[in-house]
Amino acid sequence: MSTPLVEARGIVKRYGPTTALADGRLTVLPGESHALVGRNGAGKSTLVTLLTGLQAPDEGTVRFDGEAAPPLADRDAWRRKVACVYQRPTVVPELTVAENLFINRQPLKRRFISWRRLKAEATELLDAWDVHVDPEARTADLKVEDRQMVEIARALSFGARFIVLDEPTAQLDNREIERLFSRMRALQDSGVTFLFISHHLQEVYEVCQTVTVLRDARWITTAPVADLPRAALVEAMAGESLETIAEQAVQERIVDDTAPLLLDARGLSSESFENIDLTVRRGEVVGLAGSSASGKIELAESLTGLHTPTSGTAHLDGKRLPFGDVQAALNAGVGCVPRDRHAQGLVIGMTVGDNATMSVLDRLGRFGFVGTERKRAVATELIERLDVHTEGPDQPVSDLSGGNAQKVVMARALASDPRLLVLINPTAGVDVKSKESLLARVDSAREDGTAVLVVSDELDDLRRCDRVLVLFHGRVVAEHEAGWRDHELIASIEGVDHG
Ligand SMILES: Nc1ncnc2c1ncn2[C@@H]1O[C@H](COP(=O)(O)OP(=O)(O)OP(=O)(O)O)[C@@H](O)[C@H]1O
Ligand SMILES: [Mg+2]
Repeated sequence: MSTPLVEARGIVKRYGPTTALADGRLTVLPGESHALVGRNGAGKSTLVTLLTGLQAPDEGTVRFDGEAAPPLADRDAWRRKVACVYQRPTVVPELTVAENLFINRQPLKRRFISWRRLKAEATELLDAWDVHVDPEARTADLKVEDRQMVEIARALSFGARFIVLDEPTAQLDNREIERLFSRMRALQDSGVTFLFISHHLQEVYEVCQTVTVLRDARWITTAPVADLPRAALVEAMAGESLETIAEQAVQERIVDDTAPLLLDARGLSSESFENIDLTVRRGEVVGLAGSSASGKIELAESLTGLHTPTSGTAHLDGKRLPFGDVQAALNAGVGCVPRDRHAQGLVIGMTVGDNATMSVLDRLGRFGFVGTERKRAVATELIERLDVHTEGPDQPVSDLSGGNAQKVVMARALASDPRLLVLINPTAGVDVKSKESLLARVDSAREDGTAVLVVSDELDDLRRCDRVLVLFHGRVVAEHEAGWRDHELIASIEGVDHG
């Protein structure tokens, strides 16, 4: 057997009272794409921080190519070994691609940066790895997938041949995911090794050869993906069988098509969509599907007060919905799980409890006074209902794992008892099992008479909708009643079943 490219053994990592890793292990062989899977809070991202030298384990060892990992302070040595591409960019958005590639090591021509050489070297680097991105483009203007490729190219230019991708597909649509995968395969052919983290298990089967499962901070198994079919994989992750999970998910529903319209939007237009009519009945769940460029997110965000359409109106429960003002939309009864939980969703300096109850402080106390006990009680209940993996309501929300932070955002949207609930990619980064409990919350909201709008790239989210509208280039091109087949919906999203 060849020497492992990366080997972590007996890893323990604690954060105060939390043991993020109790028995972390990982062996990655050179040239493979290795999946790391587990439920939210299992310890995946923590292991990545140890493999990339962002922090040291409390116990255990990390070795590269059979040699001990460099000291933490030697950043250059780490950069030559490994890099991680996160969902959140680590490149500087205001700089050009070329500048980002060579930040802090620009080619100097007598003390001045030589822009010509910078551009030439960037072009050479991008070409070498077959990355088709304009070196002079502003990084902020790049599509997520291109930004990820620039980050990978930068890592490779430092000499690293081991790339960690921590949930790289959470914000990509189907086509973008396919493109990322074909680029990964090409890089793998040129000798790059990947550690791939995803909650989309079918992706694991698509691009990885080996999989390691973590559960409750411990290593559970490592096996060739071919030896671990989906049911066995889910069981290893959840510690219970797939049937038990599926049973919890079964939900029969009757659509009441005489229920009054809660949301009634007419003729909405903007740069991203055109002449959209959209209605949602009391207790109805309507899905919005489409590629990243379809305008679905912009449309949903308009209803939450983030944008002002150039024409059209929306009424919620008979009252005109204010555009362009998030607070006013919230007051009007719109609850929201926003697209970017980091930028729009959470107040990072605050506790889990404060974040969960933030939008309801008015209602929790009389005369503007919120009893701490009352707030704690509400927060504790929300944490339980949404199965948030946390020490408790007083823990800072910045300590939470990605998927658990997403659940807090959901808790907050529900806490305000909204009349319209707008969910944008609500299950992004959420594990298979938590997905079910999160979507079950949506079901109980609708039973209480809330109108729900779900924008998602995930068929599982859309499957629970009473009907799904498909947008293509800003227009509604299809409507599917519940019970559609996957290929039908995908065909309308890809634009192959209409002119
Ligand atoms: N800086 C921190 N301070 C305190 N606790 C932390 C910190 N970082 C992580 N944790 C805790 O360690 C545990 C593991 O978190 P980690 O982020 O590794 O999970 P994960 O497997 O990546 O989950 P997800 O799928 O949700 O991203 C969680 O309970 C988390 O709350
Ligand atoms: Mg994580």
